Amino acid sequence: MNKNIVCIGAGYIGGPTMAVIAKMNPDRKVLVVDINAKRIEEWNSADYNLPIYEPGLVDVVKETRGKNLFFSTDIKSAVQECDIIFVGVNTPTKMFGRGAGRASDLQYWEATAREIKEYALGDKIIIEKSTLPVRTAAAMDAILNDHARYNFTVLSNPEFLAEGTAIKDLLEPDRVLIGGPQTPAGHDAIEEAVEIYSAWVDREKILTTNVWSAELTKLAANAFLAQRVSSINAIAGLCEATGADVDEVARVIGADKRIGPKFLKAGPGFGGSCFKKDVLNLVYLCETFGLHTAAEYWMGVIEMNDHQQERIVSRLFREMFNTLANKKITLFGFAFKADTGDTRETPAGKVARLLAEEHVRLTITDPKALNNAQRDLADLDGIVYESDEYKAAELSDAIILMTDWRHYPTLDWQKIYDSMRKPALVYDTRNCLDANELRKIGFKVLNIGK
Ligand code: UDX
Ligand code: ADP
Repeated sequence: MNKNIVCIGAGYIGGPTMAVIAKMNPDRKVLVVDINAKRIEEWNSADYNLPIYEPGLVDVVKETRGKNLFFSTDIKSAVQECDIIFVGVNTPTKMFGRGAGRASDLQYWEATAREIKEYALGDKIIIEKSTLPVRTAAAMDAILNDHARYNFTVLSNPEFLAEGTAIKDLLEPDRVLIGGPQTPAGHDAIEEAVEIYSAWVDREKILTTNVWSAELTKLAANAFLAQRVSSINAIAGLCEATGADVDEVARVIGADKRIGPKFLKAGPGFGGSCFKKDVLNLVYLCETFGLHTAAEYWMGVIEMNDHQQERIVSRLFREMFNTLANKKITLFGFAFKADTGDTRETPAGKVARLLAEEHVRLTITDPKALNNAQRDLADLDGIVYESDEYKAAELSDAIILMTDWRHYPTLDWQKIYDSMRKPALVYDTRNCLDANELRKIGFKVLNIGK
């Protein structure tokens, strides 16, 4: 009999991952629980007004919800009913005490471990999904198995999905990683986890390691990706200074098979819940183990990223005659990337704050992230939030394109130009618009790395 599964934490990771596991394992019952009752209500909403936007997610939830996928706040019953427990609770960067600004805040994870221990009425396999610092599984193992009545085996199964492509990434992963204790019980638990994924993933793509390798791999993989983005953004600054074109440079660099074309797109810097957090975690780990040069090396990836948004605003300042006060500037896009409403660590947030310091009259438009933008910038007065791009652009002095939403290039840019104050400026920080066309219309155009 296939074992039932519960996931504690119904967020960006838990929700989509469990929906896909339920779809591909129709004979297993999959429960998703959360302490946030509003979130659970949204997952259960009759009109599928789900708490997160992710292309394809609604279809998978329609197919599975009420059949073998269930959302609830009843953590106790779920833990008792299921032998396999995924944990996808949030692990934000710690903002207080030891390791503040670097280490992960593990209070939600630890609270979850204690809940599991309190409610369990039998042996359990605990699978960590949230990105955690190396050796957290060992700490959880210690909490769970200290004077425990049952056996708890802790595995690490880091999630590599990217937001905006979560369902595709889950259905067609490059690899699935499962780390577990190198003991007989550990091997059995790893096999249980492998079985869940082998319902749709080729066995050779399911890689098994020890727990610490799995935990470190997640941090390292994200650090490598973040480093590529910072590297190309570092080259972008040099391109602007010299007259080289960063997109041309990236195209040629990426044609080298050893380097490859992905993650070489210069832009406003990386955002999202993972890159900054995971690199900071790596920095903290390096410092903890006295590897100070390695810590500084990875810290450079973050510093480069922070600098990118400052550079964008400085250049705009210069191009707008060294004063931005009272000018109307409209941000096109606020999400950290296209196809998501997520605004965690979004570069647009930092740009908005830098512009507010210059007393800009700021308008923000975004097809999916306006609610989150409003929440993130609640402490700033006078910002206008407008879902209609044409209305947002009216009488603006400049538009800064922050997110590469697919429909932005297809907007009627002539109409936008006509409604703006002149000289009208477009700063395309994603290099996704046709700059020549815009110049023909009359816009002054700025790009990244050109
Ligand atoms: C990332 C990892 O890709 C994923 O494997 C991991 O599980 C979680 O972190 P995510 O943060 O959702 O996923 O998005 P991703 O597509 O990696 O983009 C991260 C940021 O980098 C975005 O702000 C994006 O705009 C930026 N980026 C990405 C660039 O600026 N240039 C690029 O070439 C690629
Ligand atoms: P991620 O991007 O890692 O999925 P989210 O913040 O989107 O992170 O989701 C994490 C979820 O975990 C939130 O919905 C939060 O309410 C939930 N959560 C945090 N702590 C607990 C807990 N002790 N028990 C149940 N759910 C929890």
